[in-house]
Formats: sequence, C-alpha cells, structure tokens
Amino acid sequence: MKYFKLYFLFVLLSIASCKTAQETTKSTEPEKAHILSDAEAKEIQGGMWIPSLLEGMNEDEMKLLGSNLTAKDIWDINNASIKDAVAIFGGGCTSEVVSPNGLLLTNHHCGYGTIQSHSTVDHDYLKDGFWAMNYDEEIVSPGLKATFIKRIDDVTSQIFEGITEGMDEAAKMKLIDQNINKVTKAAVKEEWQTANIKSFYKGNQYFLIITEVYKDIRMVGAPPTSIGKFGSDTDNWMWPRHTGDFSMFRIYADANNRPAAYSKDNVPYKPKHFLPISLDGVEENDFNLVFGFPGRTNEYLPAVGVSQIVNVLNPAKIEIRENALKIVDKYMKADEKIRIQYASKYAGIANYWKKWIGEDQGIHQTNAIQKKQMKENEFSKIVNEKELTQYKSLLSDFEKLYKDIEQVSLARDYWIEVAYRNVELLNITFSAYQLEQAYKKGGAEAFEKSKERVLSGYENKYKNYSAKVDQPVFESLTSLYAQKIPKEYLPENMKGVDFSKLTNDIYQNSKFTSLAGVKELLAGTPEEVIKKLNEDKAYVFGKEMHNIFYTKIEPKFQKINMELNAVQKEYMKALMEVFPKDRFYPDANFTLRANYGRVKGYEPKDGMYYTTSTYLNGVMEKYKPGDYEFDVPQKLRDLYYAKDFGQYGENGKMPINFLGTNHTTGGNSGSPVMDADGNLLGLLFDGTWEGIMSDLYYDADIVRSISVDIRYVLFIIDKYAGASHLIDEMTLVHPKKNK
Ligand code: ARG
Ligand code: ASP
Repeated sequence: MKYFKLYFLFVLLSIASCKTAQETTKSTEPEKAHILSDAEAKEIQGGMWIPSLLEGMNEDEMKLLGSNLTAKDIWDINNASIKDAVAIFGGGCTSEVVSPNGLLLTNHHCGYGTIQSHSTVDHDYLKDGFWAMNYDEEIVSPGLKATFIKRIDDVTSQIFEGITEGMDEAAKMKLIDQNINKVTKAAVKEEWQTANIKSFYKGNQYFLIITEVYKDIRMVGAPPTSIGKFGSDTDNWMWPRHTGDFSMFRIYADANNRPAAYSKDNVPYKPKHFLPISLDGVEENDFNLVFGFPGRTNEYLPAVGVSQIVNVLNPAKIEIRENALKIVDKYMKADEKIRIQYASKYAGIANYWKKWIGEDQGIHQTNAIQKKQMKENEFSKIVNEKELTQYKSLLSDFEKLYKDIEQVSLARDYWIEVAYRNVELLNITFSAYQLEQAYKKGGAEAFEKSKERVLSGYENKYKNYSAKVDQPVFESLTSLYAQKIPKEYLPENMKGVDFSKLTNDIYQNSKFTSLAGVKELLAGTPEEVIKKLNEDKAYVFGKEMHNIFYTKIEPKFQKINMELNAVQKEYMKALMEVFPKDRFYPDANFTLRANYGRVKGYEPKDGMYYTTSTYLNGVMEKYKPGDYEFDVPQKLRDLYYAKDFGQYGENGKMPINFLGTNHTTGGNSGSPVMDADGNLLGLLFDGTWEGIMSDLYYDADIVRSISVDIRYVLFIIDKYAGASHLIDEMTLVHPKKNK
C-alpha cells in the first residue's frame, strides 16, 4: 500500500515537472487504483484541452483521475472515436449522437429557440412539450445545423510566414489575415467539408479545422418547460438544481450519408460512433470527461484587466439589463402571446445578467485579483533575475493600455447593450444604417444585396416584436445611456432631452414599429429609400448613435485593443517561459475541447457542504402549484408518488442533476459528460454561482459544472412522454454493475 502511494507520487511529480503547454511527449505509464486526495487532484484539474494533443500529459492526468480511455479513444482521425459523436449544435451549443440513426441530444435551453419557433398559442411546445412518435412526425427546422470536427492541423508556421520583428502591429495583422485566407483556400479537404482557421494561446498558435456541417436537423422531442427549464431564472447558475435541461433532434443526410439541404428523400444519419449510455450513475470522485465547444474564456489576463471587467464593465452591463428585464417581465406575465414571443429573448438577457453578477462576486470572494497580482510580482522577479529584457515592460504596458481603453470600452459596451442588444427598435435601425452605408460605399449593387439580407432579417425579428414592450424599454435605456455613457461619446440629439416625450414621438410616428411599415420604407430606388429613411424619426435618432459608434468608438477601441492583443500575446509566451511547470491550456475559442475532472460536491460557504447529486424529491420540495418557475406537471407528480422510475431509478430515488469539477463555459451546454469508458452519464448545462468566475479564474476547490443525469433524461422520455421507441434506438450499458 505504502509503496503504491510513493509510486503514485513519483508519477504525479514526474508529470508535474514537465508541464508546459499541451504537449505530446509520453511519460511513464501511471498506475491506477490510488484514490487521489483532493490536494493531489487539484493539481491536475482545470483546463480545456485540444483533443488532438491529448497524448502524454493529459492522457496521464486522466488516468490518474480514474479514466480507462486512451487519447486515441477520444480523438482518432482514421478510426471511429468519441469525437465522431460530438457536434456543435446550431451556433452556440454542443450536442451528441446517441443512436445509430443520428439521434442527437442537447440541452432544452439550446433547443429553446427552435422549440419556440414551432410553437403557437394553440400548439405550445414550450409549455406542453413535444414528442415525435415516428420519423414522419419529426419537425423540419430550417437554419439549424450540426457541425462535426474531422481534422485539426497545426498551421502556425504558414500563418506566420513573412512576419518579421520590426513590423508594426497593423501590418502584422494584415499579413496574418492574408495568410489565413491563403491557407484556408489551399486546405486539403473533401468538397462537402469546410475549412476554418482559429488562433490559440492568444495568437501564438494557429490550427486549421476541417468540419462537416449537417443542415437537415429535425426536432424529435422536448419536455415541457416546467421540466426542461424547471427553476427558470431563480435557479439558473445555482445549486441545488433540479432541471431536466434536454431536448432531442435527429440529423438527416443524403443517400451517401453526407450533409445536404433539407429534402424529403434525406435519411437518418449513420454516425461513425455514437455514445453508449450508462445506467449506473455517478458517485463522488468518479472520473468524468466533458467534451464540447467552450466559447470564450480569459484566463491569462493581467490583474488590471480582470479588475476592469469586474469593477467597471460588468456593473454597467448589469444595470442596463436589469432595467430591460424588469419591463419585459411585466409584459410577459400579462400576456400569453408576448410570453411566447419574448421567452427566448428574455432568457438570453437574464442569463448573462445573472452570470456577470456572480462573476463579480466570485472574483472578489476568491481574491482572484490579489492572487493575480502576486503571480505578477513573481513574474517580474524572475524576469529581472533572468534578465529577460524583452518581457520587462509587459506589465507596465498593460497598466497603460487598460487605462487608455477604459472609457472607450465602457462606451462600446453601452452602445452594444443599448443600441444593439436590448432596444429592439434601435437594433432594427442599425440594420437600416448598414444598408445606407452599403450604398455609400458600394453603390446600387451593394445596396440591393444588403437590402435582401436586411429584409430577411426583419422577417424574423418582427415575428417576435411587440412595440408595446419595446417602447418602455427604449425610454428607460436611452435615458440611462444619456446619463452614463462617457460624455465624449454622447450624441448631440441625446443632450438635454425629455426622453418620455421623445419616445412617444418616435413610437407614434416611426414606420419602424411594424414589418409592414419598414417594408414600405425599404421600397423603391436606393435614393428614394435613403431619403425616406432619413425622414423617419426612429432612424434619425438611431443613426447618430450608430454614427458615433462607427466613427469614434470602434476605431479608437480597435486601435488600443490591437496593441493590447499584441502585449497579451507576448505575455502568454512569457508566462509559459517564466513558469515552465504551470499547466497552460489555450483560452476557449469555440473549438472542440476535452475537459476532465471528477464528480464532486463543494463547500459554498463556511460550514456548508453541497453534495454531488439531486433527486426528484428535491423537485417536489421546490414545487409551487401554478408558479411559472416551480410548477410540476401532474404526470411527473404521479410518477413520483408511485415511485415508478423503472430501470432509471437509484435505490428508490430518481436522480436529477450532478456536479463535476470540469472547467467549462458557455458553449459547453449540451456537452456529453462521460464516464471512465466513454459512456454517457449526462449532459452539461450550467455552472454554479460560487464558481461562475471560472472564465477569468479557475479554482478546483470551488468551480463546478452542473449536468443533468442521463437517467432522468431517459426516464422523462420513456415514463413521462411514453416515447420508448427512442430508448430502443439507444445502447444502454451497466459498466459498474458488470465489473
Ligand atoms: N446558465 C445556462 C448557460 O449559460 C443557461 C441555462 C438556461 N436556463 C435558464 N433557466 N435560464 O447558458
Ligand atoms: N449554460 C452554459 C451554456 O449555454 C454553460 C455554462 O456556462 O456552464 O453553454
């Protein structure tokens, strides 16, 4: 026993000593059977790793955490591997294939927009759920895509070709862009595949990513919102959680199993690999692997950058959204049609509003800024000792640049949150503004092209537009804008204005408040359209905001930001050189990543411990009849009282959600959570309040992701919805019981 432990420590140390960036050298085979202490495990958790580079350090760490998987089981470009079962869902989530017939699982909140688009007051799939009982009932969902990753190639040297030390940043960026174009065009791929290049490690490394994009995706099933979004915004980002956050789709392909536009002749997609499903559940300390598409993190910012986010930018954005949410909420509660129209928009606004609040809190609670400062002191010391002169000015450069960018960043966020995101009328005038700009730059031809795009965008926007809701949002947010935006960026027409009068005037007289009105505005020759636009009150008002954004805010922001990026790139390189023993993973950039960790509870506060799993009895504890967040459908209550859990229960209880230490972020939603053998345990759907700051600062003691237990998903499909034919398509396994 003792010997074992020593051997284990030796392995751990030998891994620790060669932790640079994600590398591919193979170290000694680590022995398993030792249960890691929390302190030992802490050292090898966190991070979102490039799946094609898992051999070596990552594979060893996964084994130490209890995995039986090899790097090749996860990523293999020649043979079936787990990667073949994982796809980007739509434009911002993850999904996984769970049957030989292309059945695709993702979160309910990822399918939400699609479920809403198929819903009406009479067929309200948000409220009642939906289940296709055969292929014919599956609903075609135009615009929805599933994207698989076929290859990831390092093309760094090609992207840096021609770059020399003395070049200024703008010239460098231009050349890099040209090289990116060249390499993308020259990429070796099949004709139905696409090629993209993404930057990693703050621009120190570039990878070519070859994908296959399936475009015929059909809706198969969704639980009612009272299950799929149980707890709604109150429970969002929180533990204990009880949400059945899943929905189901199917990928269709042409006769050759390749991507194709919708056709009734398309057939269910045959995957190279689909995930078997474990019925054995999770226990504390079990290994788990999340595999998906984390969107954006910023782990390597200097303290001054983090401080600006949490002390300046987040509070401004939080205030804006708070104002919008209050108003929209009021109207949604008063009107069924508005509730459906605004459901998805509201959830989107509320989601990040709450996230930023938690992020600020978490950064303060973990003293992340002070810890970053300490690390920076250490950095400076080593840089001085080793005379790494090229790195000496980095931290003071950051200080200066963050100071320079602060006001313009703030102005930019005000414009984005008010004019682009939350006041719909302003967003709509922005498209029209782009149309006018297209004409100015490219003449009639550019105008017509842009007009087509703008009009089809409007068709979508007005489907869910209510001027009644938007008007008070406009009034509230424009007056906030006038008060809060740094003065140099305040449009003339917002100075000394009575916003209530102005708002009334605009909403009474502008043609932008309806689709018919806007179509009227956009009819005619370019000259006529532009003349009409410039006589419209909403347009004239919005145009000044957009103009200032384009002529003052954006150019200044981009200029300083480019310099910041250059320093950040150098700092990333410097960190890796100065701290060769640290584990460096590239920030999330919405590319496929493996995030391993353990099933684990945590201590949210002194004297409290959150256990790893929640159960259906917890749903019943939260049950509030008739409440829009905590109602429980009759059928689910019946199943609960009858304890009719079938093969999905665990010791007479129905598991709902569980926690893991995996380092995840927005975009990971819907990601498969797999066991030590690659069987599906659940779907990741959230992070916890105390650890929400993990985009800026990860800490294995407190950061947790939240997943819905796959047994609850199957139970809802089978026992609640009676769609057992879907279960029959899947492969259910008992990896623990069979040991
Ligand atoms: N917080 C989750 C993630 O970023 C979304 C969960 C959606 N559910 C909800 N109740 N809003 O996107
Ligand atoms: N809910 C997030 C998403 O939509 C996931 C997370 O941030 O944990 O991707």
